[in-house]
Amino acid sequence: MCGIIGYIGSKPATPFLIEGLKRMEYRGYDSAGVAVCGGAEIITRRAAGKIARLEAAIAARPVVGTCGVGHTRWATHGPPTERNAHPHLSGDDSVAVVHNGIIENANALRALLREKGYEFRSDTDTEVLAHLVQELYEGSLEAAVLSALREVEGTYGLAVVSSRDPGKIVAARKGSPLLIGIGDGEHFIASDASAILAHTRQVVYLDEGDVAVITADGYRVLDVNALPLSRRVDQIDWDLGAIERGGYAHFMLKEIFEQPQTVENAMRGRVIADDGTSKLGGLNLSHDQLMAIDNIIITACGTSWHSALIGEMMIEELCRIPVEVEYASEFRYRNPIVTDRTLCIVISQSGETADTLAAMREAKRRGARTLGLVNVVGSTIAREDDGGIYLHAGPEIGVASTKAFTSQVVALALFTLKLARKRGLSVTRGIEIAHALAALPDQIRDVLSRADQMEQIAEEFKRAPNFLYLGRGVNFPVALEGALKLKEISYIHAEGYPAAEMKHGPIALIDEMMPVVFVAPHDAVFEKVVSNVQEVKARKGNIIAITSRDEPALAGLVDYEFRIPETVDLLTPVLASIPLQLLAYYIAVKRGANVDQPRNLAKSVTVE
Ligand code: M6R
Repeated sequence: MCGIIGYIGSKPATPFLIEGLKRMEYRGYDSAGVAVCGGAEIITRRAAGKIARLEAAIAARPVVGTCGVGHTRWATHGPPTERNAHPHLSGDDSVAVVHNGIIENANALRALLREKGYEFRSDTDTEVLAHLVQELYEGSLEAAVLSALREVEGTYGLAVVSSRDPGKIVAARKGSPLLIGIGDGEHFIASDASAILAHTRQVVYLDEGDVAVITADGYRVLDVNALPLSRRVDQIDWDLGAIERGGYAHFMLKEIFEQPQTVENAMRGRVIADDGTSKLGGLNLSHDQLMAIDNIIITACGTSWHSALIGEMMIEELCRIPVEVEYASEFRYRNPIVTDRTLCIVISQSGETADTLAAMREAKRRGARTLGLVNVVGSTIAREDDGGIYLHAGPEIGVASTKAFTSQVVALALFTLKLARKRGLSVTRGIEIAHALAALPDQIRDVLSRADQMEQIAEEFKRAPNFLYLGRGVNFPVALEGALKLKEISYIHAEGYPAAEMKHGPIALIDEMMPVVFVAPHDAVFEKVVSNVQEVKARKGNIIAITSRDEPALAGLVDYEFRIPETVDLLTPVLASIPLQLLAYYIAVKRGANVDQPRNLAKSVTVE
């Protein structure tokens, strides 16, 4: 959600902070700020709006110093104004704090601090931390931070500097990711590896409850009792190119066009074509454990929840194991039936979504084994799950998830193949699916080579106020995903529905003004979809159809058609979702929307 960056070394800190903030702007972009230790004081600059406005503020009044912290915000407490932008200063301006997460007992702490004479200058929960650290300071910043954290309930990733104990940044993590970047005579703290990748690949991911003291020459990691902890140094294995637009107008477009490669990466070394199965190194499930699974729960949010629905159909169809798909935010607060023979699959691009993480912990607490399908290497879900399948899609920067979705579907297919072959799927059927998987990258290339067709369709519909997306079977979640893509980046109201369910309500909306997107490849339910197309046409709806062959049954019914290659039914979502990504993208661009940073959204939702 928000982004944190800190630098300490021998060079001016501000350029590092600004660069890091720009790299993380996709995480939150309603206000930003920096605090730099310059001599005996802390100097802050903050601005509402994009990082460019902060840059302008700094250019007008430069801040100089070799140690500092910065933050880009997605508002939770208080509107996105300059006074609410981080860093927040303590009453005597000696402490500056940047914080991701939510301090749940902020009201109680605020009342206590007011009694002691502290005045509050923002509406944020974070400001209480700054005052608390000042209040508890007795000569060591890390000791004051540790004492403050003992008073705090809630979640945090935070970085603190103080003019009373200069030459260090103190960082702490509980529920919000942070990593230390190790440089030569300089160190970084960041919530996102992309913020520091230009300067170092060596990182230490902090664990829950860790407190770190970072200086120019080194770092120490402490537990809550200030006892030293040892943490592994990891190597970031992707390049700067992965987080740059590389000639594309937007990250979203780049990520849509990366899909032949990302789908291939998700499968690399994992498909055993001859045996119609897969090899998944991180699964951590023995043959006996796979055979013992009684039921599967898949939990996720947003786009990842849509891929979960596809996974449900794949697993039930091929493995004959009951599967339930749960919104992570609902699962964690009800009383689900979980046993030690339940496998809980957790799907998350970021691996940091607060609800999904909490749902995974809840499933574990109830005795389930957990399997994470995660894109971001080293993320919290990837570190806490019992086994995992990395998506290997590379960094996804566009707020609208695209390449992660197709990789999730592929990862689910790989897992299904493995489980199904153990639980009775014939080798012939397994081989058929394995070959279909292998064909996907070229088929995606084919879809993308005709992107201009979707652009033309977008031109026709760019002013539509509403859209309906309909599909059946595995393509019902594709309809949901198409509608989500459109609404989040173009702000057009869009709904996804099972095609036949439409006549139980949404059909009332259909007239000549309503574009209806049918996801209608030639699969087992195609004939049924044709009936639904007829129902819409009879009410003069404007039909855009995603089809997979020349269909006489659709002649005269469909206004616009986009053809995808044929594959096995269960994999059609990989191909059918891509034209819908393109449709949403081109409509949003034609409406002048900020595609990569849509209003009110953030890439990784690390609050409840
Ligand atoms: O990182 P995650 O996959 O856990 O994120 C889940 C959702 O927040 C995410 O898919 C969101 O719905 C996207 N904006 C969809 O494009």
